Amino acid sequence: MKITVVGAGAVGATCADNIARKELAEEVVLLDIKEGLAEGKALDMLQTASLLEFDTRITGSTNDYSKTANSDVVVITSGVPRKPGMTREELIGINAGIVKNVTENILKHSPNAIIIVISNPMDTMTYLALKTSGIPKNRIIGMGGILDSARFKCYLSQELHCSPNDLHAVVIGGHGDTTMIPLIRMATLNGTPVTTMISEEKQKQIVADTMVGGATLTKLIGTSAWYAPGAAGALLVESIVRDQKKVFPCCVYLEGEYGQKDICLGVPVVIGRNGWEKIIDYKLNDEEQALFNKSADAVRNMNEVLTTLDVNA
Ligand code: APR
Repeated sequence: MKITVVGAGAVGATCADNIARKELAEEVVLLDIKEGLAEGKALDMLQTASLLEFDTRITGSTNDYSKTANSDVVVITSGVPRKPGMTREELIGINAGIVKNVTENILKHSPNAIIIVISNPMDTMTYLALKTSGIPKNRIIGMGGILDSARFKCYLSQELHCSPNDLHAVVIGGHGDTTMIPLIRMATLNGTPVTTMISEEKQKQIVADTMVGGATLTKLIGTSAWYAPGAAGALLVESIVRDQKKVFPCCVYLEGEYGQKDICLGVPVVIGRNGWEKIIDYKLNDEEQALFNKSADAVRNMNEVLTTLDVNA
């Protein structure tokens, strides 16, 4: 198994590190446009092998895509992160060109790769990668919902004084501060609905905190987060390479499912060796469906911006 991570910045390096530690592949390639960055970080990670007891081979490459040839999975994290006060959507102008270019280069050398998109605005970048590459829809997956769900579980566990691992809680919709939908009605602690344990006021607060979970971190750190995004990317890779068939909320191309079409948006999907293999219908109630439709409208508006850029989406 060979995995490439494009972008050796904060998110890409963390993702590669998680992939290596979990030994998800024999070989991990880290690629970046900045001279020496990927080689340096790859070597640093490789030197942890005897300390952390893993046997993954990690190599770096400065923009040489031939080194990525025949990758089974490729994670795209290249682009600019947001700064305090910025929305993920404001990154579109710069990141669209980068993501399109990277996708083309990757597919030249790994025509059968499954592509995971992390670069923001992720829903639109996933749509762009799908439309400009023309590869089957199951092989393009946007990573956002897993991260947002992890943040949702984190806030719920703090309130409930429980392990986040005993919670089932899912965020669907767009990966934006105003477009994501933490499904509090369906969240459970060991099978018991959390809505029976938390006041309505507190529930609203947790949902609101989850939605601005990324922005909160950006304000604190001065740039966007990387530990959880990198770990979330690696979890997705794991379910693919080990064919685990785990259900994760991921950004995928909808053709009528959840009442939407010609859009990439977060819904629960089965992730296995073929990429995303099936969409699970969570049977939203009217209120949740209305939020999903609103989220789709916002993401569609963002996708429209692509037509004003030189990316031919
Ligand atoms: N090809 C390869 N790498 C590129 C390219 C390109 N065309 N353009 C930029 N990069 C690299 C940069 O050199 C940098 O090392 O992408 C890396 C991005 O790293 P950071 O600036 O540290 O950003 P990071 O925090 O990792 O976020 C990356 O993930 O979560 C999203 O919003 C975030 O879109 C952002 C992306």
